[in-house]
Amino acid sequence: MIGARSASINVMTAAARKAARGLLRDFGEVEQLQVSKKGPGDFVSAADTRVEKVLRQELSKARPDYGFLLEESGEIPGNDRHNCWVVDPLDGTTNFLHGIPHFAISIALVRDGEPISGVIYQPLTDELFWAEKGHGAFVNDRRLRVSARNKLEESVIATGIPHQGRPGHDRFIKQLSSVMTATAGVRRFGAASLDLAYVAAGRCEGFWEIGLKPWDIAAGIILVREAGGYVSEIDGGHDMLTSGHILAANDRLHLPLGMLLRQGV
Ligand code: IPD
Ligand code: CA
Ligand code: CA
Repeated sequence: MIGARSASINVMTAAARKAARGLLRDFGEVEQLQVSKKGPGDFVSAADTRVEKVLRQELSKARPDYGFLLEESGEIPGNDRHNCWVVDPLDGTTNFLHGIPHFAISIALVRDGEPISGVIYQPLTDELFWAEKGHGAFVNDRRLRVSARNKLEESVIATGIPHQGRPGHDRFIKQLSSVMTATAGVRRFGAASLDLAYVAAGRCEGFWEIGLKPWDIAAGIILVREAGGYVSEIDGGHDMLTSGHILAANDRLHLPLGMLLRQGV
């Protein structure tokens, strides 16, 4: 049974659905632009900025005092120092740019540094993942629960690959090798917010990545937690929003996956 949606969830949902209309239109255009010589690069950054503008307008209309942390426009302090919207207008830009149908809008409400509610909307599948502290996690009207698999060898783990030459690349390759050996498969889907939503939905048993930004993970953190999973840094710490290093998994596999990732690194 679906829990009552709070006013904040309704505000985030309405903003995400409104912004998604333009994003879907633009995605149709991007698919056409693949074959043009210039490519869709500039068009996609304009689309990204347009989405962010709609989200900002809608969220501030509903909560004029809240601050913002927006991927494109940065930090915008509000009169209310406790509440901040953390927004990724388009997570999965590389997918979007290539016409790959896997991307999302991610919005979190962070109160005094802690994500307390979040919405991740994948417009092409019309899946709206949402969660609120103490009230559970949902996709549309269905309650979410992390998967019950407890064997690494049966698990599917999502990740993100840091660019070669970036800090952590070599460490990542070692981790990837260990996880590939121990599990049923590793996936690189290309949108960190959805990787976390998929852990919450029990589609993947876990997800790890380093060097992410708060807007990539804030909404996903509350989703995984409210679905009964665990989220930490890879070394076990809890400052994911600052370090950008994250390990999320179902309750049974968080510990063994963390041990595997730390092994030999
Ligand atoms: C990226 C995606 C990707 C992750 C990158 C992020 P963007 O966000 O979430 O999955 O591996 O580190 O930067 O640029 O598409 O918003
Ligand atoms: Ca992102
Ligand atoms: Ca983005």
